[in-house]
Amino acid sequence: MNALLDTIAALRFQLDAGVDEAIGDEPMDWSALSTRARNVAPVTLTGAPPPAAPRPTGAASMAPPRQYAQVTTQTPLQGSDPGPLGAAEAGQSARLAASAAQDLDALKEALAAFEGCALKKTATHLVFGMGSRQARIMLVGEAPGENEDRQGLPFVGPAGKLLDLMLGAIGLDRLADDPAKAVYITNMLPWRPPGNRSPTDGEIAACLPFMARHIELMSPDILIFAGGISAKAMLSRTEGITRLRGRWFDYHSPGLAKPVPSMPMLHPAYLLRNPAAKREAWKDLLALRLRLEGKG
Ligand code: URA
Repeated sequence: MNALLDTIAALRFQLDAGVDEAIGDEPMDWSALSTRARNVAPVTLTGAPPPAAPRPTGAASMAPPRQYAQVTTQTPLQGSDPGPLGAAEAGQSARLAASAAQDLDALKEALAAFEGCALKKTATHLVFGMGSRQARIMLVGEAPGENEDRQGLPFVGPAGKLLDLMLGAIGLDRLADDPAKAVYITNMLPWRPPGNRSPTDGEIAACLPFMARHIELMSPDILIFAGGISAKAMLSRTEGITRLRGRWFDYHSPGLAKPVPSMPMLHPAYLLRNPAAKREAWKDLLALRLRLEGKG
């Protein structure tokens, strides 16, 4: 009995530590995986990235009903997946697939078909984005947590509730259709890291081309990076979030007509753990409000 309890405790420890894969009983020919990189959807790259698709007009929106309805269009991942590509192949495959996407739906499909990030294997849902596609503001978090993975939507757990309060305090709402109030929310990584561990550099690098294209296709007026992972990766910075927060940077990408003013902010999950830091977050929110009013 004691041995069983010890085994359960050991397994629980491994899950909490982020162990996401068991060694298989059968040997695997890893070299055969390289062929998968060549099987990505054909692209017509001429060297220059494809132009950003015109954003849809009208009421096209990714906002679900008020209750953050559970995503039902995506089947939970199943079946056997031989595993991730090597880092170089994953990067190449991601760049090709992302740059070929001409609109957000195509980008979501390309991500769903992407085999270069092992997180896909352990996640329940791909978490793509939420909010009006006409939003002027795009907020990029880190990665889905347990609630987000279950519902297929970003920021729907405790950190998301705080985020909604923070945005609401300056008149913004992820469910608004009015572009002046709307915020489009997404994450640097679309799949939950097991046990909510931090994503590895390889996982971030594999998903980065998709986020860059996501930003190009949204073409927002303002970018907010919530937390250090997205801020550092997308702005190519090495400082920590406490040094980056509250500062405005220009985000450049070849497919954008002009650089996008971007501000890193403290992550709401950090604020839940460190309530005293809400003071800094409030300053950043006020700076964002001023910028939206053309005064910042
Ligand atoms: N933290 C994030 O960065 N994103 C989410 O979607 C949830 C928690």
